[in-house]
Amino acid sequence: MCGIFGYIGQGDAGQNILNGLKRLEYRGYDSWGVAVVSRDRQNGDSTIEVAKKVGSIGALEELKDLPKSNIGIGHTRWATHGGVTEVNAHPHYSTDHSFVLAQNGIVENYQELKKELAQKGYSFSTETDTEIIVRNVEFRLSQINNLKEAVRKAFLDLKGRNTIIVLSSEHNQVIAVRNGSPLVVGIGDGEYFFASDTLSFADKTDEVIYIDDKQMVEYKDGDLKLFDVENNKELKIKIRKLDHEDVSIDKEGFAHFMLKEIVDQKHTIREAIQYSEEEMEPIVNIIKNSRNIYTVGAGTASFAAGQIAYFLRKYAGVNAIELKSYEMESYKELFTENDLLIAVSQSGETADTIEAVELAKQKGAKIGSIVNMVGSTITRLSDFPYFLRSGPEICVVSTKAFTAMCSWGLLLALSVKGEAEKARKAINNLSEELDRHLNEDFFACVKKVTEKLLHHEHIFVLGRGQNYYLSLEAGLKLKETAYKHTEGFAAGELKHGVIALIEKGTPIFVLISEDNSKSDMLSAAAEVKARGAHLIGIATKENELFDDFIKTPEGDYADSIANIIPFHLLAYYLAVELGYNPDKPRNLAKSVTVK
Ligand code: F6R
Repeated sequence: MCGIFGYIGQGDAGQNILNGLKRLEYRGYDSWGVAVVSRDRQNGDSTIEVAKKVGSIGALEELKDLPKSNIGIGHTRWATHGGVTEVNAHPHYSTDHSFVLAQNGIVENYQELKKELAQKGYSFSTETDTEIIVRNVEFRLSQINNLKEAVRKAFLDLKGRNTIIVLSSEHNQVIAVRNGSPLVVGIGDGEYFFASDTLSFADKTDEVIYIDDKQMVEYKDGDLKLFDVENNKELKIKIRKLDHEDVSIDKEGFAHFMLKEIVDQKHTIREAIQYSEEEMEPIVNIIKNSRNIYTVGAGTASFAAGQIAYFLRKYAGVNAIELKSYEMESYKELFTENDLLIAVSQSGETADTIEAVELAKQKGAKIGSIVNMVGSTITRLSDFPYFLRSGPEICVVSTKAFTAMCSWGLLLALSVKGEAEKARKAINNLSEELDRHLNEDFFACVKKVTEKLLHHEHIFVLGRGQNYYLSLEAGLKLKETAYKHTEGFAAGELKHGVIALIEKGTPIFVLISEDNSKSDMLSAAAEVKARGAHLIGIATKENELFDDFIKTPEGDYADSIANIIPFHLLAYYLAVELGYNPDKPRNLAKSVTVK
């Protein structure tokens, strides 16, 4: 979702901002803009020049009208209020062009504020909620004549999760304020990078200041200062070292990031379990001493949260319950200090999941987390933070983060049982199996099935037990990249209604592991086949019921983890065959930082 990138330094601001925005591209956006301060060498006057575009970020030449500058801000917009147009793209000018402003988030009370400002005589030229902030800063400025104070006061009027950045034409001044949406400042050699994530400047510096909620950071005439936005008190700046093991954003010869990340899984599942017994001990102990264990996430991460809870119940005998982070209303009064909530998130910045964590925390519950992005908000809110170490996941559609989350969940469950070695062995074996398995024959087999799905509008995926959450995730993958109506559901649900949808030729996937759910799964397979379904088996062993069969590697405890990989590839090949960009599906954003 929206990304912010500001630059101050000796280098070319336009080029640096463009690089930063490109590294934020993965978050998803539909338009973008850059603003830089331009100085007239003769009379010393400063003006702000803005360039905005709809669509993908191109080369710097696209911004040829922008003058050379050492200070500026940029923004990638994922439309919430107002259509995808250049006018609605950020940054937005103040009426007198003395400052520009960009926002990441949603102003929940924008209608009230707009009414109040309109009554005061302000008018609006865009459909965005962000312009309301601009006019409000103007209003405050007319009363105080101090930009920092005007921004601070205007920010305090906002409801919702938002982060804003302001560039002034005077004083070499950039101000950014955070409440909810992420904000970090990278410190380079005489350079500052204000950004939505550390990945955007990780190729330039490894020193970072994490800006917390309700904090305001100001760069002015060479000085960087941090304030509490509520009482304007100056705060001590803490510079931390970034620990990004993998900062490259490179397809490494693959046609798309999605394909690269699918293949990456043979390594990333292994990275996710690189925790010694001592390192797992804190969360294992808290699980043993907690009354309730909840796992929580949204989208793919919610299915991983489901799988982690399944592993905890099945292998550790722990009564773990998975929650959807956007459905916490009925739980919020139930959390106590004897509970543990484990947040599952690739980005660590998903607004719904952050809110779930905050709710549980307010009630005194302990927070564990498994997150990919180092330094992200969820990590910093956690008492027991763990990392996937999968490297940047750039494709909007999550693949390697999901299998890494499940792998870590298996390690967690078996660690609670005192059998962590079994998890290590299963995941390491699966990693080796995948290394052998992800070959041309496997790709060709998946492509053959892809061909048969191209013209079907409705596809179903049946799973049970360890494959239940996998079936849900499989459904989501095909929806996201191929825009096919694909439903994953529990095979047990079939006879209770869903079977009514099966017609001659309907593609049905069955996920089958060599465990005690196999016979029930085969019965379900026979029932849909009897009604004319085209049956595709995803299993380690062939069966005469299958019309098509995709063999998955033996995974032992990790069987189910292996079973999602054919769907990753199917989702990929379907998108490519249908002419869609698998890396950037329509309407989707990678980091969902608004509710
Ligand atoms: C789907 C996908 C999303 C995310 C969800 C949560 O492919 O990527 O469903 O899983 O938006 O994101 P994170 O994991 O960053 O909290």
